[in-house]
Amino acid sequence: MLLKLLFRSFSSTSKPFKCSAVKAMGRKFTVGGNWKMNGDKATYDGLIANLTSNCLDKEVDVVIGAPACYLEYVRTKLPSTIGVAAQNCFYKKSGAFTGEISPEMILDNKCDWVIIGHSERRQIFGETDQMIAEKVNYALSVGLKVIFCIGETLEEREAGKTHEVCFRQMQAAADKVKNWDNVVVAYEPVWAIGTGKVATPEQAQDVHAALRTWAKDKLSPEIAEGLRIIYGGSVTADNAPSLSKQPDIDGFLVGGASLKPEFVKIINCKSD
Ligand code: 13P
Repeated sequence: MLLKLLFRSFSSTSKPFKCSAVKAMGRKFTVGGNWKMNGDKATYDGLIANLTSNCLDKEVDVVIGAPACYLEYVRTKLPSTIGVAAQNCFYKKSGAFTGEISPEMILDNKCDWVIIGHSERRQIFGETDQMIAEKVNYALSVGLKVIFCIGETLEEREAGKTHEVCFRQMQAAADKVKNWDNVVVAYEPVWAIGTGKVATPEQAQDVHAALRTWAKDKLSPEIAEGLRIIYGGSVTADNAPSLSKQPDIDGFLVGGASLKPEFVKIINCKSD
């Protein structure tokens, strides 16, 4: 069995990894795969096999965002070294909230992450900054780790409002959240999501650096230093290495490419 496992890990399609340097305390490189509303059990079996049969960089935190009704299925099949996230939750424990799930239900399914404030939730389902802030705060209070998504639309970028919009979204959360230890901020420019138009490394670094400076001024220098800020929007195996070299990019939130074999290459992009 051990030999079989060893053979499997060394017969992987990705190259063996070298240890990558951790940027600072708390800023472990983090790669999320957001499966959104895609796939079924058969699809997930294939995606999980891809993750478990390849060698993954141990210096990277990997989290899979699965649809709510498959959380338990995915959690049971993935090794405990890979986190599983819900893609949304409400800010109450229980009650007459048809169609919602609570952070407690996510924990009850042995999952310890949740993605909150994704632009699809904001734009298609009308979630406001305040509602999202309530969700982030409540999810953290019961012990979940949160991937908190922010980002500007194309119109806002073209109007020169990128920083202003991102700071407004951050401030709404900061009005509620005092302990940021279990928050990963995902900067996902809306114009880059699912469009194939990835932000250049310089564009992404500019916003990530601005967010860290904002966090230093509005939260604390310690929080800013340890805050993981990951990038999302048309990340692929091709563009991940150059993005990952930017000093303030601490990982990725990946949509489309997380449903493909290349997801492993994105996880290993710092060490391949
Ligand atoms: P794509 O990687 O498909 O652009 O999606 C990004 C995203 O929305 C991750 O949450």
